[in-house]
This record gives sequence, structure tokens and C-alpha cells, in this order.
Amino acid sequence: MHSSFAPRLVAWQRRHGRHDLPWQVSDPYRVWLSEIMLQQTQVKSVLDYYPRFLARFPDVAALAAAPVDDVLAQWSGLGYYSRARNLHKAARMVMDEFGGVFPAEREQLERLPGVGRSTAAAISAFAFGRRETILDGNVKRVLARCFGVEGFPGEKTVEKRMWALAEQILPRDAADIGPYVQGLMDLGATVCSRGKPACTACPMLDGCVAARDGRTGELPTPRPKKTVPTRQTVMLLAQRGNQVWLRRRQPTGIWGGLLSLPEFATTFEIEDWLRAAGEGDMLPAWPELEHVFTHFRLIITPQPVRIDQFRAAGVAEADGQWLDIDQAVDAGVPAPVRRLLLRLAQV
Ligand code: ADE
Repeated sequence: MHSSFAPRLVAWQRRHGRHDLPWQVSDPYRVWLSEIMLQQTQVKSVLDYYPRFLARFPDVAALAAAPVDDVLAQWSGLGYYSRARNLHKAARMVMDEFGGVFPAEREQLERLPGVGRSTAAAISAFAFGRRETILDGNVKRVLARCFGVEGFPGEKTVEKRMWALAEQILPRDAADIGPYVQGLMDLGATVCSRGKPACTACPMLDGCVAARDGRTGELPTPRPKKTVPTRQTVMLLAQRGNQVWLRRRQPTGIWGGLLSLPEFATTFEIEDWLRAAGEGDMLPAWPELEHVFTHFRLIITPQPVRIDQFRAAGVAEADGQWLDIDQAVDAGVPAPVRRLLLRLAQV
């Protein structure tokens, strides 16, 4: 597959690929402009804007000489306006630092604002016939499936492996580089699509790892789900008649300053509290309650305790307060605490 990938892709592109796109020319200015426009915009919309932009700014000198507001006005509707600002800056850089002539080497092109490695490679290949490979989202999908590359391609190590692979499978003959790079784009956009790839129409079907193993739905590996850390806490539900024992929290933290149920690390600590606070019974713990914050998950074990006689020998009054349960529900407590208090009111 490694050695036949490029010849197959080039043959396929020549027969089935796209040949009528207005930026399929050798003028680096036109290629560069199209690649910037196509970074975050569909071909259909670019086909609309591209000729108008070129009519207003026919070459890099015209673009560099224009006020940035004129450039932004022409860009209006394409979105991601930092692209337009960078475009203008890059045009001035081509004029000032490169004597008005686009450099052919990818490394030089990468110095232009808004031009990353893949875009620089596309310009270097299309406009100058250099053996350079692109690696955008579509190409990552094609490579992950064809060669069975595991791992989320947005991850640095996986991306590095993909760049190495992409360089390894370039066509030997520089004359093929244009159709090859265009073929990468066309295959990803039309045949090897994200949802339902048209594998029977694919030149890589024979040899594609994902097609062979029925894994086009699994490759490329999706972004890993964000795992948030879990914290455990035990909440004391001390009930005396229709009253509950609440404590004001420290002023800092997520629930800073709110009245809340007292928290303990373990139910054993609640036994100690009960011994100090008075006479009563530990009741069976309620089922765990989960509360999800943006940065962690809190698992709450609610531990009800019935107090017959409040002694508070070892419990400072300032450490908490008895509140009617109904009152407590409305006292501005954290959401999961409110749920527990509502449940307590029904017991
Ligand atoms: N997307 C990015 N560059 C492209 C190009 N040259 N042709 C089609 N789609 C593209």
C-alpha cells in the first residue's frame, strides 16, 4: 500500500478528481489566496468570493498597497476575519521581505502570517511543483483509515506520526505532485467522507485497513472524552424534630459563603460528631448523589442522623445552626444540598 498509494491516487485524480477550480493555476498569489479562503470556508462559498476578491486585488502588490479596511470589506461575509488581517500583513511581507515574489520553499512560506505547515505545503506543491505534502483534517481521515493509524489525530504524537507517514508516501516524480495533493483533497472531500464513505468508488479499497476490518466508523479515532476528576464527600443530614443542622461554608471555593450541609471525609467521622453533639442514631446512608461541575465530579454520600437530645459538648455553636427544614430549603444552599433537604422534608 505504501508504494502504490501515490500512483493510485494520481491516476484516480486525473480521471475522477476536480479539474475546474479557478485556483488550479500556477500563480502563487492565486493559490495562496484560495488556500487561505478555503481554510475555514466551503468550496461553494469560496467560488463566489474568490473572483470578486481577485478583481479588486489582482496581485500581491495591489493587495499590499490597499488599506486594511478595504481588504476587510472584500472579505465581509467569509468570516474568521483574522484571516483577512493576516492576508494583508502577509502581502506586505512578500513585498518588503521577498521583493514582491512569493518564495517557493515551504519553510519560507511558513513565515507568512496565517500560513501553517499544511497551507505552505499546498502553495509550494501547487504553484512550484515541490514535493511537499499537506495534512489537513480530510487527509488525516484518509491516512488513518488507509493505513490503520490509531489515536486521535489532534494529539501531537499521533499528528507527528501522520506527518512522517504522509512524507513517506509522496509520489517519486515531482511532475505528479499537483494532481497528488489535489487528489488528497478530492478523495477526502468526496469519497472518503466522514459519515458514509463511498468505499466501492475508492481507488484504495484494495489495501485499506479500515475498509478491510469494517472500521471506517472507528477511524480516525475520535477526540477522547474529557475525563474530569472525581471527589467524594459525606454530607451530614442531622435532623432534630423538623430542624436540620447547617453550617456556613468558608468564603472561598465553588460554594463559598453559602449555607450548606456539614461535610466529612467518612461516615466514621460522623459517628464522632454524633458522640460529641448529643444523643441520637445513625440511620442508613442514602444512595449516592452525583453533581457535575465543569472541572470535577462530586459524589455525595448523604448520611442521615437523628438527634434526640442536642448536647453540643464538643460542637461549637458557631460551627453551625439549627434551621427549620422548610426554611433551609429556601436559604440559598447549593443545588444538590437543596435536593437533599427537599427529600428530608418528605421523610
Ligand atoms: N480545500 C483546501 N484547499 C483546497 C483546494 N485547493 N481545492 C479544493 N478544496 C480545498
